[in-house]
Amino acid sequence: MDLQSFVRDVPRQKFQQIFQKGVKVIYEDALARLSSNTQLLDALLSLDSVPDELTLSFLDSLSTAPSEPEPAPRDALSFRVVKHYADWAPVTPKSFLQLFSSRYRELSRILYRKPQLKSTVSISQLSRVKGREDLSIIGLVREISELNDGRRILVVEDLSGSTKVILPASLPGKEDVVLDEVIGVTGQAGRGIFFANQLIFPDIAPVEWPRAPRPKALFISDIHVGSKKYLEDTWEKFVSWLNEHREVKYLFIAGDLVDGVGMYQGQANSLEIDTFEGQIEALARYLKQTRHDLRIISISGNHDPNRDSEPQPTFPEEILKPLRHVKNLEVYSNPSWLEIEGLTFLLYHGTSFDGLIDAVGSIRARGYHEPHLAQMQLLKKRHLSPIFGRNKLFPDSQDFMVIDRVPHVFHTGHVHKVDVSTYKGVRLVSSGTFQDVTDFQEKLGHEPSPGKFVLMDLSDGSSSVLDFSKVR
Ligand SMILES: [Fe+2]
Repeated sequence: MDLQSFVRDVPRQKFQQIFQKGVKVIYEDALARLSSNTQLLDALLSLDSVPDELTLSFLDSLSTAPSEPEPAPRDALSFRVVKHYADWAPVTPKSFLQLFSSRYRELSRILYRKPQLKSTVSISQLSRVKGREDLSIIGLVREISELNDGRRILVVEDLSGSTKVILPASLPGKEDVVLDEVIGVTGQAGRGIFFANQLIFPDIAPVEWPRAPRPKALFISDIHVGSKKYLEDTWEKFVSWLNEHREVKYLFIAGDLVDGVGMYQGQANSLEIDTFEGQIEALARYLKQTRHDLRIISISGNHDPNRDSEPQPTFPEEILKPLRHVKNLEVYSNPSWLEIEGLTFLLYHGTSFDGLIDAVGSIRARGYHEPHLAQMQLLKKRHLSPIFGRNKLFPDSQDFMVIDRVPHVFHTGHVHKVDVSTYKGVRLVSSGTFQDVTDFQEKLGHEPSPGKFVLMDLSDGSSSVLDFSKVR
């Protein structure tokens, strides 16, 4: 496809609009794609800003727009499921390829909007670059290695090819890069290598809290019913407080409702109730103690009877059956995005924290003590489980773990440590647990906070930590 045939095939007016938008260069493969796809051309023209150089990778990022899931309203004005994982494609040999292509497409679309990445070129185009001009690339991190002098070498790939990228020892964000995430890099191209001078993460834009009169919400997690370490006394104190404080209208639970069975070697010795069925029935009894006008919204965690790869759908039918008697309980997928009283809540158990805290140098020492640091990293990376492998991901045709919309509240559990913070306006809530400290946690040096949970005034997003281990 040459420019003249393109001009002939594409209405002249649209062709002029492409350049009026600010495009200076159109690569040949991008030209061919545009001439054969008028919908894509229209999508390009509808953008607020476009890159200086139009690459095939950029057009690919436009071609599959994220589909807005059907809302499932309960109280149409105050509650809506924005995104909940219910259907998934059958696994085929191509499933992992589709999963990572989807991740690249969605995250590169976010990155292309960053002003620092206006001069982004396809990796395959780097070999044609002459001289030392500043360029940028967007790629998925395939390999990471360290040099003795403190520099890091990445191998990043896009849909056109891969390249080595050198990160100088003093480059901000260098320690935060992990495998399988999608990043933008600016710098200069050398022979078969890219010298980075800036790292750009997809990151979130700041959000405003829309102030309005609203009730309060309590955030808990990791009940671990069935464990010998389950703190029944703490639960009783918690329920009696909750039933007295009617201003609390919502109770969020970020998973690990039960301790599970066969989770690790020797778990049988630490179980009071040694079947899933028994644990779920006991859980139903505990939840039924809460007042009926309280709305309980839960997801599952890695200890719950669900598949062990994320995203986790809601519980299987046989597990849900005893829970159906808890009339005020709703169980959604892990993760889920819910809109309640005009606020967006992202609920995620947090199983990916283990791999993340280990991999990100800047949070390695403090991540288990201050889990908001891990939450911030996920928001920066716009992905709930970026590192493939340690936390299992289900190979779906679309990557459900991409954070494609910014919540007002991000609630997690898993590390059993209470923590509350704010990042760019997003309230970060990490819940404590109803399980006493285990020998394993003690050995790892973790400091869980049994009985400590976050109470939030949804009117303005202010919060406080309640300590039920001390309530008399
Ligand atoms: Fe847990």
